[in-house]
Parts: sequence; structure tokens; C-alpha cells
Amino acid sequence: MADPDSETPARDDDSDRERHPLAMETLVALCAARGFIYPASEIYGGIAGFWDYGPLGVELKNNLKAFWWRRMVRERDDVVGIDSAIISHPRTWEASGHVEGFSDPMVDCRTCKRRFRADQIEGERCPEAPKKRAVAECDLTEAREFNLMLRTELGASVDEATTAYLRPETCQPIFTGFKRVREAARQKVPFGIAQIGKAFRNEITPRNFTFRSREFEQAEMEFFCHPSESGEWFAHWREQRLQFHRDLGFAEDLLRTRPHAPDELAHYARAADDIEFLFPFGWQEIEGVHDRGDWDLSRHSEYSGKELAVTDERTKERFTPCVIETSVGIDRTTLALLVAAYRQETLENGEERTVLGFHPALAPIKAAVLPLSKKLAEPARAIQRELRRHFNVFYDDAGNIGRRYRRQDEAGTPYCITVDFESGDDGHVTVRERDTMDQKRIPIEGLERYLRDLLEDDR
Ligand code: GAP
Repeated sequence: MADPDSETPARDDDSDRERHPLAMETLVALCAARGFIYPASEIYGGIAGFWDYGPLGVELKNNLKAFWWRRMVRERDDVVGIDSAIISHPRTWEASGHVEGFSDPMVDCRTCKRRFRADQIEGERCPEAPKKRAVAECDLTEAREFNLMLRTELGASVDEATTAYLRPETCQPIFTGFKRVREAARQKVPFGIAQIGKAFRNEITPRNFTFRSREFEQAEMEFFCHPSESGEWFAHWREQRLQFHRDLGFAEDLLRTRPHAPDELAHYARAADDIEFLFPFGWQEIEGVHDRGDWDLSRHSEYSGKELAVTDERTKERFTPCVIETSVGIDRTTLALLVAAYRQETLENGEERTVLGFHPALAPIKAAVLPLSKKLAEPARAIQRELRRHFNVFYDDAGNIGRRYRRQDEAGTPYCITVDFESGDDGHVTVRERDTMDQKRIPIEGLERYLRDLLEDDR
């Protein structure tokens, strides 16, 4: 089976790279320093393909997930949400085709003991071999299929142990729970079931920061419809999902869609369109919209012996619904948000500043309260206490005010509230806007309302 998210080197050309001035190393360093994302188990040297999200990263990711949930579940009558177990009955993965077919061809190098995807090998040479080594000295194995599912054992004793898998995609429990959810939620086809959760793949070569990880999050929605309507729903969801990415603030020239060629399609897909983002390492998939036909429900029906067909109440026709799937990577989209938000500016006074220009609704911190002096800590803390009931509000009284603004610019905080020595007398504070750096005096009493209007999510 084709790797469902294999890179597309033909389109990853140099002209695209030139348009992207941000070096990944710069972003990776900023993410670690500011506590967005850093290597998992860092003190042991890290573990390839695993990442931890720090205090700012978890807020950013949570805001992204909340926006997805709002768009896909809360604002629709025809989609309901679930939160399923990560481990499913092992038969699930036989029925889904993953035990048999979820693999990449891989090649081992007996010289350097490293493993590569077969499509990363050019000719007979190991990609790690020094240039001066003769091709004949590279000792590569034949390509072998390598299943990407991560295994674990369930059961207390060796005899009883059963092999189970950490799910490689979040959608299978949506299919196995289809009948239960439809009946419990009193939904009729066409309707969808959505969930956000962790997925695991034993990627042979995790790389490009969080882009290709071994543990990652997906937000998936499976929309069940009559087979005759699947084309219409495919077009509907493709447009909805593209609009979602525009609403995250991605400019048109950072987004494109790409239909899969027949030989690229995953084993379950009849058609697929990728939504791609222009990363510093080229155009890459952040979301897939798939027409899965009736593959999943038919297979689970066959393997479980349970009837998963439905009856059209009007025509009395009995049919197995087809599925249109939207599957977005939360980590990849978070990375895209960081890439799109990053900018470096030279101010009029010659100072440099780094800014993460997130949409206010996605920004990890909405406002920072900055007293001009530590002596103003008490009234400043009171303002923070009041505002943090409504938004994520940070407090900082360490260092000079310019440096504190810079720190918030780097965190992507849209508003800074400065409490000064006049604030006690006139009941006003200064609100500074991140992008324009405009400053306005605002009455403390009306501050929450003022910020609420600015932060209001009108997308
Ligand atoms: N249920 C369909 C499915 O899983 P996929 O194209 O294999 O389809 C969907 O994955 C999305 O999941 C991708 O567009 C990507 O954003 C994310 N994803 C897949 N593999 C990933 C990995 N190794 N690391 C991070 N994200 C990944």
C-alpha cells in the first residue's frame, strides 16, 4: 500500500523554498526557548519522532482543537463528537486492512546499521554514506515491507498475552461505534461523527521537526452518506476544510489542494485531495479529504458479523453508507501556524523584534499585565485576577518594559496592558497592540469589555 502521507518531492522545488525565508532551525530554537515545543525525554538526548508541548504550545494546540471542534461539531446539527479508546480490539485492524497493508518498503544498511524508506535510496548508495565511499562498499538489504503500527501486549501473563496496536488513525472506532452513536444521537444518514485524539505510527524516518512524528494528534470526521451523494459531499467537505485553513489566517499563497493520483491512494480510498501548506521544507500535506466508499463499514460488518447497513425511511432501500473523511493533523497544523505567524522586524529605532502574529483567537496568551514598576504589583495583580476569569492572562514584572514587550511579541500575545503610576489616580491603563504597537489609554472598569470586543472570534 502507498504511504498515505508520503512526501511529494517533485513538487517540493527550490523556487518554493526561495519564497520562504524562515529557516527551520530558527523556528525550532524559538519553540524550545519559549516553551512551545521541545524534544520529548530531552535530558536523555531525546527520542526520535516524539515531542513535548510546553506551556505556550499546549495553549496554542488547545485553541486550534477548540476551533476545529466548534466548526465541525458545535456549529453543525449533522455532526456529533466522540472520544474513543486508543486501543481497539485487534480484529479492528485486520478488518481495516492495516495489519495486512499499512506498511512502507524499507531498506537496512548493514554498514551503518541505519534503516531508510526505500524511496529515499538513490541507486545502490546508502544516504548516510560519505561521498568518498564507493557504491560497492554500501551494503544495503533488499526492500522489505515494514508495518507502521506500534504494537503492545495486553494481559498479565505471557500465555494470555494478546498483541494489540496503538491506533495508526483515530477513525476506526468511529466506524466500529457507528451503529451505537447513530442510534444514541438519533441521527439519520447523512450525518458525521468526529473526534480528536492521539495516533501512532512507527515512521521509519521521523523528520522535519513535528511534521513526521511517531506520536501525533489527528482531528478526524467521518461523514456517512448515501452512495449516490458521495461526490456532492466530497466537494462540500473539501471546500469547508479549505475555508477552515483560511480562517486560521493562512494566506492563499501558503495553501493549495492536490488530488491524489490513482497509484498514491491509500487502500481504503476511492479518491483523495490533500490540503497542502508551504513549509520552509516545501509544499506538504496538512490534511486529507478522502472518499472511503463503503470500505470501512462493509469490512467491519464482515469481520464482526454485525449488520451496519441502514434503511432509507422514505424509499425503504437498504444500503451500506459511504464515507467522506476529513483528516487533519493537529501537530502539522500547529507547525503551520508557527511558520505562518513568524516574522522578524526592524523597528524605526533600529531594534529588531521577533513576532508571532497569531490570530488573537489562537494566541496562547490573550493579554499580559505589565506594571511599570514592582511597586505597582498589587493593582496590576488585581487586574490580572479579574481578567483571567475570562481569558488566559499573563503577569510579568521582571526587567525593563521594552524587554517585556519583546517577550510577549515572541509569545504572540496580541495585547499588553501597562499599569503605571497614574493608573491609581485616573483609573486608566495603557493597552498596546502587538502588530501596530499602537497604545491607547483605557479605563480599568471597561477593560474586560474592551478586550472581549477585540478578541471576539468573528470567523
Ligand atoms: N484516517 C485517514 C488518515 O489517517 P492520513 O493521510 O494518513 O489519513 C491524515 O493522515 C493526517 O494526519 C495527515 O494529513 C497529517 O496531517 C497527519 N499525519 C499523518 N501521519 C503523521 C505523522 N507521522 N506525523 C504527524 N502527522 C501525521
